[in-house]
Amino acid sequence: MSGFQPILFVIVGGGGDLTRRKLLPAIARIAEENGWQDRLHVLAVGRAEQDDAGYRAWARQSLGLAGLAPETVKAWCDSSIHYASNAAGWQTVADKIEQIEAEHDLPGNRAFYLAIPPRVFSQVIDGLGEVGLNRSPGFTRLVIEKPFGRSLESARELNQIVHAHFDERQVYRIDHYLGKETVQNLLVFRFANALFESAWNRSLVKSVEITVGEHLGLETRAGYYDQAGAFRDMIQNHVTQVLTLVAMEPPVKLDADSIRDEKVKVLRSIVAILPGDVVYGQYAGGVIEDETVPGYQDEPGVAEGSTTETAVSLRLYIDNWRWQGVPFYLRTGKRFPERLTQIVVRFREPPVCLFEVNGSCDVHSDAIIITLQPNEGFELLFDVKAPDEDMRLQTVPLDFRYAEAFGELPGAYATLIEDIVLGDQTLFVRSDEVEAAWSLYQSILDDPPIPEQYAAGTWGPPSSHKLPHATGDRWLQG
Ligand code: BG6
Repeated sequence: MSGFQPILFVIVGGGGDLTRRKLLPAIARIAEENGWQDRLHVLAVGRAEQDDAGYRAWARQSLGLAGLAPETVKAWCDSSIHYASNAAGWQTVADKIEQIEAEHDLPGNRAFYLAIPPRVFSQVIDGLGEVGLNRSPGFTRLVIEKPFGRSLESARELNQIVHAHFDERQVYRIDHYLGKETVQNLLVFRFANALFESAWNRSLVKSVEITVGEHLGLETRAGYYDQAGAFRDMIQNHVTQVLTLVAMEPPVKLDADSIRDEKVKVLRSIVAILPGDVVYGQYAGGVIEDETVPGYQDEPGVAEGSTTETAVSLRLYIDNWRWQGVPFYLRTGKRFPERLTQIVVRFREPPVCLFEVNGSCDVHSDAIIITLQPNEGFELLFDVKAPDEDMRLQTVPLDFRYAEAFGELPGAYATLIEDIVLGDQTLFVRSDEVEAAWSLYQSILDDPPIPEQYAAGTWGPPSSHKLPHATGDRWLQG
């Protein structure tokens, strides 16, 4: 990782929703917080023909909506945001880049952020390469949003196109879950606290659950989502990234490649997932927080009779010394009762039961619950004696909440964009990692189960609830 150097941040898809909602506000915040306003310039690239002034007006409005102070935003926008259309090809963009760099005395460091639909990734990467925008007088970085391919084959093809023009050291594949403060903290929690790490293995851990539930439905994304489904949208990337951080071995160093090497080893150690260990669901109409919502099939833009899954639950095993025989349960879904991303590590019960109630053991397994969002924090659940005359046990929590200790947490995009600017690849997905994740799931994607219906406002279909029962477990919620 290098320190800050003046940079031109080129957003391809500069007029899009991601740019408006996430990228511009995050860049503006970073520039302000670090005092980089005159050295962190943005060039938005889009199809529309407009001048800098037209785009700046749109950008100011977007930044205002994101709650940034109007004076700061206006000054930064007017000096540091620029616009170019690529409707006539990439040479126009290359010329504009040179013009901005000359006018503002920038040394030629560039990051190209592809905030565009995945179907045009290859075309744009080729376009940049063909006019020489893959190299510059300073450094050049390429940032690619998910989804990176929709199968092992397409991910490989996309990697080939990327590598035809860019070196892997220039490439930053975004999975915004890795920018979440609590996800990054998994490394600290595990490797800075010997107490937990010594228990983090098959001798003491009984099972691990990762749930990423959303109460939102499809929103306005039918065009993308009905083709993708929950497996490609969430499991292959966000949920799997969290899994690798929970399961990985300690890295030899805290640098990008050492960490990513360990994550890849986890993916390569996962045993082929059995078809019976995967459940697909699709939400039917229901009630969430007193609001009646339509079923997936009735959402605008969804193909008639669509069998796209909106929820997935699965069980997998990692065949290495640390985790052999420990079930990992992964689950995601839209229209669950609440937004909740949680890791539950359940510990084994004591080998001998001293505390019996009515002939059965009263001991409950201890657990660590790591809540990644909302109300981020850690809970350690353990048994105590309930204070009455009988020997009755009760499970109680030891609780830590980020908001109480630190106040508001930084947004994922601000963290990731700052890392792109500074050249730290740790939180970005490497090409072999992407391919290993697709390869792991390809057999399920080739022959997916038929989705079972679940009512909106519930935690997925009945078979999903039963999935952990077979191995003596249960989901924490639902
Ligand atoms: C996106 C998915 O990558 O992540 C969306 O495409 C999903 O479908 C979103 O809603 C969830 O992100 P977060 O940060 O709100 O948990």
